[in-house]
Amino acid sequence: MSTEGLNTEGKTDTPLRGDYSRMREDYTIDQGWESYTEAEHALWRQLFTRQSKLLQRYAAPEFIAGIGKLDAVDGVPHFGRASEILSKATGWTLVAVPGLIPEDVFFTHLSERRFPVTNWLRKPEEMDYLVEPDVFHDFFGHVPLLMHPVFADYMQAYGKGGLRAMKFGTLENLARLYWYMVEFGLINTKDGIRAYGAGMLSSAGESQYCIDSDEPNRIGFDLERVMRTRYRIDDYQATYFVLDSYEQLFDATSQDFAPIYERLKALPEFAPDEVLPTDKVFTRGKGRQRAA
Ligand code: PHE
Ligand code: CO
Repeated sequence: MSTEGLNTEGKTDTPLRGDYSRMREDYTIDQGWESYTEAEHALWRQLFTRQSKLLQRYAAPEFIAGIGKLDAVDGVPHFGRASEILSKATGWTLVAVPGLIPEDVFFTHLSERRFPVTNWLRKPEEMDYLVEPDVFHDFFGHVPLLMHPVFADYMQAYGKGGLRAMKFGTLENLARLYWYMVEFGLINTKDGIRAYGAGMLSSAGESQYCIDSDEPNRIGFDLERVMRTRYRIDDYQATYFVLDSYEQLFDATSQDFAPIYERLKALPEFAPDEVLPTDKVFTRGKGRQRAA
């Protein structure tokens, strides 16, 4: 699960694609692993192989370590078996959902260390782009870092923070943190900047773009800066934020956000491609030269 495809009110523009007719109250369903066809398993392997080749160069070491332990090479993974591996590592489990789910339900799952994973796989003609997250995005993109103790704790804290932000009416600020630091996060390593975000690492194009392209800005993580920055949902990101460590993200977000939300109400937002004099700039992009 993620928030791609959701507009700022958290609603989708188009009807959702999954089967929402047989779910439980918490929006979970049986994964129905036996129902994947051989063609779907083959498509998964194709996606998995393509992304795996990119990881050495583009992905953060913690992501590479995580995906390697999840036994997801052979076909669409079985969520129950993956949950056994994951729960031993960090206490998280995976639950199957039909697709995007309401924010409060999503936050409640995260706050209880359950990660909702869409059960359906994209079609072959959607290898490169799809509007709603599918099982490849949710599993390949998100689950590897849930194997990392600090990031695992961060995701639970984010879930609790989401329930709080709903009460404050400040979801827009909080959602930017998910977008920029969970879906599209970069991290600085001894070998250079690497990607850990699910949005880029489940996409062949953006895995390369976020590291190699001279178009986007790469700016050091700053909590309030991120929470004030609007984002693009229909193209590669204009700006990526770079962590020094996952601890930096966890520590910055462990303070009480109530006063921050209050302060942000009176402050202007930033455009997706804006660079500020106060930014720690790793690379200043020349901007998008053509549409994706
Ligand atoms: N500390 C935040 C709050 O007080 C909760 C939070 C934690 C939000 C981690 C995002 C990430 O609301
Ligand atoms: Co996602």
